[in-house]
Amino acid sequence: MTDPLNELRADRQRAGELADPHAGLCTLATVDEHGAPQVRTLVLRDMQDRFALFLNATSPKQRQLNSGQAAVCVYLASIQRQYRLSCSIEAIAPDIVRDSWQMRPDAPKRMDWYYVQGRVQSSDVTDRQTLLDELDAMTLTNPLHAPPEAVGYWLNPHFVERLDLAQDNGVHDRIAWSLASGRWTQTTLVP
Ligand SMILES: Cc1cc2nc3c(=O)[nH]c(=O)nc-3n(C[C@H](O)[C@H](O)[C@H](O)COP(=O)(O)O)c2cc1C
Repeated sequence: MTDPLNELRADRQRAGELADPHAGLCTLATVDEHGAPQVRTLVLRDMQDRFALFLNATSPKQRQLNSGQAAVCVYLASIQRQYRLSCSIEAIAPDIVRDSWQMRPDAPKRMDWYYVQGRVQSSDVTDRQTLLDELDAMTLTNPLHAPPEAVGYWLNPHFVERLDLAQDNGVHDRIAWSLASGRWTQTTLVP
């Protein structure tokens, strides 16, 4: 039986070689405290043979991830394939997050500290200049290390669905995989 995560891995690699700007990204869906759906783009990391997300714990999505559930969508336009993943999530050990955080560019590193010392992510700020001034005014350690609020989650997908538009006869190919007792079973879906 094919492993859908390896399929996704191979397709992201192929899309990357085709310079697909979405090869490294996903859309993360969560449900907020009012029951409303929320979506946003995130980098989808592939490390230690697992998919992972990195974010700041001050953000609204972190509270929403406390449900332990997330849905992720990846559309690779270069190869006309969409993947949808239903996942449980698992916190990544802080030492792994800390190492990975060091690879971030400078500005996102500073923002991670601003969320802690200044204003939490996704909150209101008077205007962009106020934000820039407050960022400049922060005193930061040198070298910078990750704040505890920099967090990561492993995705543990239990359902994966792939829609492949690239069919000669125009009839899309749609496959679903479900994980039970550590084994994937595959079914065909009406596209
Ligand atoms: C290309 C792209 C990549 C992004 N990657 C991340 C990411 O890896 N982690 C993250 O927290 N936000 C990332 N963002 C920002 C999120 O989409 C979002 O604006 C932010 O995390 C606040 O989300 P929230 O209010 O739902 O918590 C990215 C945005 C774009 C456009």
